Formats: sequence, structure tokens, C-alpha cells
Amino acid sequence: MPTPPNHSQIDPKDVQGLVRFGYKTLTEGCYLLLRIRNAAAARAWCAVAPVATSEFMDHPPDVALQVAFTSAGLRALGLPGDVLEGFSDEFLAGLADDENRSKRLGDVGASAPESWQWGSPANIPDVLVMLFAVPGRLAGWRDMLQTDAWKAAFDLMHCLDTSDMGGHEPFGFVDGVSQPAIDWEGARNSGASQIQYSNLVSAGEFLLGYLNEYGKYTDRPLMDSSDAKAAELLPALDVPAKKDLGRNGTFVVLRTLEQDVRGFWRFLDRQTQSNAAERQQLGQRMVGRTMDGDPLVQESAAPIEGIPSGPQSDSNRFTFDQDPSGTRCPFGGHVRRANPRNGDFPNKPGWLLPRLWSMLGFSSLGMRTDIMASTRFHRILRRGREYGTPLTPAQAVESAPADDAPRGLQFLCINANISRQFEFIQNAWLMSTKFDGLAGESDPLLGNRTAIGDGLTTDAFTIPREQGVRTCIEGLPQFVRVRGGAYFFLPSVSALRYLSRIGD
Ligand code: HEM
Repeated sequence: MPTPPNHSQIDPKDVQGLVRFGYKTLTEGCYLLLRIRNAAAARAWCAVAPVATSEFMDHPPDVALQVAFTSAGLRALGLPGDVLEGFSDEFLAGLADDENRSKRLGDVGASAPESWQWGSPANIPDVLVMLFAVPGRLAGWRDMLQTDAWKAAFDLMHCLDTSDMGGHEPFGFVDGVSQPAIDWEGARNSGASQIQYSNLVSAGEFLLGYLNEYGKYTDRPLMDSSDAKAAELLPALDVPAKKDLGRNGTFVVLRTLEQDVRGFWRFLDRQTQSNAAERQQLGQRMVGRTMDGDPLVQESAAPIEGIPSGPQSDSNRFTFDQDPSGTRCPFGGHVRRANPRNGDFPNKPGWLLPRLWSMLGFSSLGMRTDIMASTRFHRILRRGREYGTPLTPAQAVESAPADDAPRGLQFLCINANISRQFEFIQNAWLMSTKFDGLAGESDPLLGNRTAIGDGLTTDAFTIPREQGVRTCIEGLPQFVRVRGGAYFFLPSVSALRYLSRIGD
């Protein structure tokens, strides 16, 4: 058993700020996708890049810069192959390089990488520079950063703009309500089984180099202490003789998700015979929250670890225990799929035999809950931003499509294990046609509606009813199309400085 580390050892000055802050007051933002033009110049920039950290300050900053690299980028920078191999397979392979991965993630048909604007195998960026600023500051600051040294180092492949929709995603729902709370202090008993749902999650789920929810350290490159260039890297907590390139770093998944806002509200409008209140209610059931971000189920009577008491967190103090038949929040609703909010033993039997009974699927809810698995191994921190202009449901339904520049979400999430966290949620929960005992449907917002196997449809959405027959809506069109994406390593500040020295 590894000795539990003292988590107060997490030095926030070494962790990029995006892990801790959403930078919500920095409402202007853009993502620069760069190719390394000259490795030595790029390394020189890494030595001085003005990266904002997770350290608390008296005042939030006016601007913040974050930087991350694809595996191709680390290679182009000159990271030796044997060190690179210490990263996970999925990071090394990338988001779009494997047809099976694309299938698993639902990136097929109109969402297939071949048609992406960026991130397809021939179009993978090396570096992602994220810029956030208070209103009015972004453009000038971005110009200032493009010094001669920057221009010598990088070519701009794409600039992904973002827009401020006042905390709403383009369909019009409040976004960013539910986030896991990171256990910065090491208070969690990592590795122990957990009967109740907890929102407090081990630091190792979001930062490399710390214990994760299994009570283990996620794989990452460890280096010999004899390597002089690695001297300033922190030691690995589990193997103190080694230097840890991952510690205080993590992975970023960035995906450009284009939303057909008109298509979404027009479909709902047809389903509800243009009754605006019912249209909104149907949309809310698909999302699993009201448009204002309130839960559809009752507040939990028992406290939930990691959710502070007080009105600010009211909208997160719930589980689906209060709604076992899905009549308030349908089983297939987006938030219920994305975070089913159950513990290791979904039906919560405390004793060994009932636990076993439940694990084998013989509990009162049958196989349904077992398929979902416990949620604490599959959490992500969402840090995405919207792009395009907003459109209200009424505008989406009524006005002619004059302005139809694309709009959507630059979906961005942070996790220490891409396959167990982002990929699992996307594949086993959102895209799954068998989630929670359902059949013939996948996520009502994100599903690609492509028939699978021998023609099984995936375009339905079921709403259980308290009495009478459940409603099944069929023929959902595709509302979200993937337009780009990649996996990035978000290094710690010390790892970034190490990267600046690798070619010396
Ligand atoms: C265009 C695409 C998407 C839209 C419009 C969307 C919309 C929303 C909305 C409105 C919420 C509820 C508010 C909140 O808790 O923040 C939500 C929650 C969530 N979404 Fe999405 N989402 C999208 C894509 C994704 C993807 C790709 C994933 C993961 C792979 C994801 C994972 C989650 C998670 C984990 C939650 C929180 C669930 C909870 O803890 O209750 N979403 N999303």
C-alpha cells in the first residue's frame, strides 16, 4: 500500500489555473491551435510563457494564458521517445487517429474526423494556447503576445473564437452548474469503497502524480533523477527516486461541437404542436435540468459530500434516488447519462450478501443500475466555452434563418485518465444505446442517430410516466456535429520549464 501523500504538497503555483478556476469573469476567450515552426524557438517560448497558475490571488487576474501540447507537439518540441512512451496510449494515439476510437466516441457520419475543420489525422495541432481576458482586453493582449520570438516559434493553424452567452450554452440552458469538487487537501479515503454518491473527488482524478479514486497513481512519464535536465521536476510521490513529468499536470480534451439550435427547437416545436411551454418542458427533459439550471428531481434529504450547504449549491444537492422510475428526469436525459450520481453499489446495500446480490444484477432494479457503474471513476471538470451568436428558442422557431453562422460549444474537459473519464462518459453513457436499461436511443442532445449493428435505431427518446404508458419520441435528428478535436497534455509550470530545456 502506498503511503497516502500529504496533499498540502500540491503547490497551486505549479498547477495551471484552468484546473482550479473557470475564469468566468474573463468572458473573452480564444483557443489558438499552433504548429511548431522551429523547435528551439518554441522551447525558448516555453521558458518564459506567462502561464497563469492555480494560486489564489486577492483579485482575479485581467488576463490568463494556459498552454497544452498534443503528443505530436511534444515530439516536435524534442521530447525523447522513451519519455513520451510513459504517457497513456490514448494520449499518444490522439482523438482521431483510430477508426475504432472514433466509432466508440460516436464520431461517425457527419461527425467523422475526415470532415473536421481541425484535428483530423492530417490536421493535428502541436500546441494549444488558451487566452482568457476581461471584456475589451483580449485583442490587444493577443497582439502583444505575438512577439518576434513567438512568430519564430509557431505558425497559427486555427483560432477558435468563443463568445459570451451569459452562462448559457447555445440551446439556451444554463451551463457549468455541476462540477466535481477536487480534494485539494487529501481528505478523501482513496481506494475505499463508497456507498453514497460523493461530489468530492480525489485530486488524482484531475492531476497526475496524486492518488486517484482507486487509491493508485495514474501512469505518467517518470524519469531518472540522474537526468540533469529533469533536476527541477518534482519527485514522484510513489517512487521518490524518480522525477515526475506528469505531477501537477493533466490532460485536456477539446472538441468543437456545432449545435443546430434551429433544428433542436424546431423539432421540439413540431413534437409539441407549437405549444411554447410544452416545447420548453420537452427540452428540459432532454437536458435533465430546467433552462435556468434547476434540477428536475427533489433535493436530497441527506447531505452530499463535496456539496457545501447553502443556497448557492442548491441546484446540485440531489441524486436520482428520489426518482427511481425516471418520471421526473428521464433515464436518457443528458445530465442523468453524463453523471448518474450513484455510489459503488447503486442500490446501496451495506451488507456483503445484499451487495453481492446487487452487483450480480438481482436487486429490485435488476441489471439497470449495474450497467451504469459507479460514478466516482468517471468524473470530468468541464471548462468549455460557447461560440457564435445566441438565439432564443422563439427566434429559433420563428425567424427566417438569416444569420446562420455556426454556433456551438468549444467543449473542453480536464481529466487525468482520458480513457476512464472522458472516453468512458462519452462512449458508455452518452452514446450508449443500452444505458440504464434503455434501447434504441443515445444522448438526446449529442447522439449521432446513426443506426448500429444490424440496423438498430438510436434516434428515440423515452419519457417514463407516473401513470399510463411512457412516451417515446422517435426520429430525433442529429443536433450536435463534431467539427474538430484533440487530446492535449496540460503540463505543470515546472514541467513546462523542463520542456524548455530538453534540447539544450
Ligand atoms: C453541445 C454539446 C453539449 C451541450 C449543449 C451540453 C449541455 C449541458 C447542460 C445544459 C448541462 C446542465 C448544466 C450543468 O450541470 O452544467 C450539462 C451537464 C453536463 N454535461 Fe453536457 N453538454 C454538451 C456536451 C457534453 C459532453 C461532450 C460531455 C462529456 C463527454 C458532457 C458532460 C456533461 C456533464 C458531466 C454534465 C454534468 C452532469 C452532472 O454532474 O449533473 N456534456 N451539459
